[in-house]
Amino acid sequence: MTNNVTVVTHPLVQHKLTIMREKDTSSKSFRQLLREISHLMAYEVTRTLPMTTKRIETPLCEMDAPMIEGKKLALISILRAGNGLLDGILELIPAARVGFVGLYRDPETLQPVQYYFKVPTQLEDRVTIVVDPMLATGNSSVAAVDLLKKSGARDIRFMCLLAAPEGIKRMQGAHPDVSIVTAAIDSHLNDHGYIVPGLGDAGDRMFGTK
Ligand code: URA
Repeated sequence: MTNNVTVVTHPLVQHKLTIMREKDTSSKSFRQLLREISHLMAYEVTRTLPMTTKRIETPLCEMDAPMIEGKKLALISILRAGNGLLDGILELIPAARVGFVGLYRDPETLQPVQYYFKVPTQLEDRVTIVVDPMLATGNSSVAAVDLLKKSGARDIRFMCLLAAPEGIKRMQGAHPDVSIVTAAIDSHLNDHGYIVPGLGDAGDRMFGTK
């Protein structure tokens, strides 16, 4: 646990992640495992949600029962690989509102350029969970959080499968208030910006593209 970073060390998560890293794992298995891991990680990212109580009546008596406080959560997928984590977390929190952020890297400036942005209203009143499997350079994740903050989001949590130390540093430098939940912190980035040892291109592994 680095400051504001939680590594989900649960054996089920670690076991599934190892299978995902293996280069011969099929796209079908990769997608299924990502969905399963996202369920498990959703527990961690939602662990500190603000709670309230509601007066209810059981068949036996009245009680003040715990409920999640406030407006419905906002789940924000960074396209396209974020959708793999989104599917699983939505199964666990089906009432959440969903947004999408699309960014590509300008080949000359290497800076992220926005091509799609559609998010729920009233982000200032929602816990916002941003999902992207790979926190690599951190450039697109930081740009996505910049955009979400401009749209009003205040309580932002970032959930990924793998993080590079470079990406964590970048996110913590730009957005120290954003907590990060990951299944592993890998060694470093290679010259092409891939996480090492990593799992390759998450989008390609998920969708069977190259
Ligand atoms: N994006 C990926 O899909 N994989 C990496 O290793 C880095 C960024």
